[in-house]
Amino acid sequence: MHVRRTLIGWERQDLLDTAELIASELVTNAIKATGDITVSHEEAMLSPDLVTIGMYRTGSYVVIEVWDGDRTPPAPKTPSDDEEGGRGLLLVELMCRSWGYRWPATGSKVVWCMIAGDPDHASGGGSPVPRSRTKE
Ligand SMILES: Nc1ncnc2c1ncn2[C@@H]1O[C@H](COP(=O)(O)OP(=O)(O)OP(=O)(O)O)[C@@H](O)[C@H]1O
Ligand SMILES: [Mg+2]
Repeated sequence: MHVRRTLIGWERQDLLDTAELIASELVTNAIKATGDITVSHEEAMLSPDLVTIGMYRTGSYVVIEVWDGDRTPPAPKTPSDDEEGGRGLLLVELMCRSWGYRWPATGSKVVWCMIAGDPDHASGGGSPVPRSRTKE
């Protein structure tokens, strides 16, 4: 819901489906890795077991970040046809412009994903507009 509300606030309804799918995959992975969810960065900083989402935009791109307390990097798989799981990150990779992860100095891990939108939506000047960010 945070993703949906944020995008509507930014008038980026064009990204709703893609962003919600990506957020859902990343959050599911983060919960699998650590086990819990919250919506606030402050709480997540207090407990490494919590998962949180941040979003910011830069030009016509929107970046979704999912934080979790597990230091293991995400590892895309190459599942065989009869394997059920292991496709989340492949899907994310297909749907976004680029993705990656980092280990902030404050602890935890962030998996981020940049979504390319319609260039007409570029927000003046292309300078980053941070939101829900934490010190690194
Ligand atoms: N946030 C994360 N923290 C630690 N490991 C991760 C994280 N995200 C992904 N991984 C690792 O990368 C692997 C691949 O993730 P991916 O989402 O592609 O597959 P899956 O979650 O195993 O299955 P599916 O998403 O299809 O249900 C995971 O099995 C896990 O080992
Ligand atoms: Mg997954």
